[in-house]
Amino acid sequence: MTLPADGIERILFSTETIAAKVAELGETIARDYRGKTPLVIGILNGCFPFIADLVRATQIHLEVDFMSVSSYGDGTSSSGVVRIIKDLNQVIIGRNVILVEDIIDTGLTLRYLMDNLRTRHPESVAVCTLLDKSEARKERVDVAYRGFTCPNEFVVGYGLDYAGRYRNLPYIGVLKPEIYRAP
Ligand code: PRP
Repeated sequence: MTLPADGIERILFSTETIAAKVAELGETIARDYRGKTPLVIGILNGCFPFIADLVRATQIHLEVDFMSVSSYGDGTSSSGVVRIIKDLNQVIIGRNVILVEDIIDTGLTLRYLMDNLRTRHPESVAVCTLLDKSEARKERVDVAYRGFTCPNEFVVGYGLDYAGRYRNLPYIGVLKPEIYRAP
């Protein structure tokens, strides 16, 4: 059992729980995409532990690429206006794309990305997210592969950050409010 780090109120999804879910997602994706060599696209930065574990749990031929986007907003919520910081390294015409996110919150980032990628004429685009904070949704997003429904709390760890920190926790936890609330 991993103990919470400083600043963590409680563990929401343990290392073991995450590993079991990622294995399950990988098996499902492998079954759905057998013979199709999907292009798995990670949306940086938060996706990095998840996509690393997910592709190793997906035992079919696949390729991996990354995008990095930045959302214009007030720092705590996204506006839906997204700037591409790093684009894909390859064209995706005719490819079966799986977009991998650590978390979907308002859905604004994914809405933009789905619309953007569809103009590039892929064969298909599916979304895989580890966490789905569906209570916070502002834009409808079809989620093909979902790890966990996430409560509407400030969660960090396993890629998710607060001010750049906590991404390296091996579990997902709820941040203590005193960490992000001004005194
Ligand atoms: C997070 C997450 C998604 C986005 C979801 O990224 O990885 O990309 O927010 O929010 P939305 O559904 O409200 O648009 P973030 O902007 O925190 O960047 P990071 O991945 O580098 O931490």
